[in-house]
Amino acid sequence: MSVYQLIYTSRPFGYDLNMLASILATARSRNARDDITGALICRPDVFLQLLEGPRLKVEATYERICADDRHVEVTSLVSEGVPDRLFPDWAMKHDPAVSWLWSPLEVHMGALHAASKLAIREVFFRSAQDDPS
Ligand SMILES: Cc1cc2nc3c(=O)[nH]c(=O)nc-3n(C[C@H](O)[C@H](O)[C@H](O)COP(=O)(O)O)c2cc1C
Repeated sequence: MSVYQLIYTSRPFGYDLNMLASILATARSRNARDDITGALICRPDVFLQLLEGPRLKVEATYERICADDRHVEVTSLVSEGVPDRLFPDWAMKHDPAVSWLWSPLEVHMGALHAASKLAIREVFFRSAQDDPS
């Protein structure tokens, strides 16, 4: 079955550890139900999330995420079919930005929006190779 992959970035609104724990708990239970896997890279200045799974489920999840007021400026960066899942064992991996390529200043200056799809994917290739966190 083909896998649909969606990657977006956003800016956290009211970021703290409780908020992050709550997002991850919801994400993991919903995604397990919906056959979605992926990773959420988090830093106080930025979220970068990869969702992968059946296209309609991924799109419905992304719609809910877009309406969530715990972040702003949600922008889709990649959305297309891919041959395989990158995070098959993760309902939602939490990556506290260890795989990150860009500094806060670069992110602030728009590096993510200017990056190629390949560069964006590279962040998640690195994350997928990291030890579980
Ligand atoms: C950064 C971020 C990432 C999220 N990731 C997911 C996710 O992977 N899956 C999911 O179902 N909800 C995710 N959510 C939560 C959704 O926005 C939403 O609150 C949740 O799906 C419940 O939706 P409902 O209240 O409309 O039922 C995320 C929210 C934020 C702010």
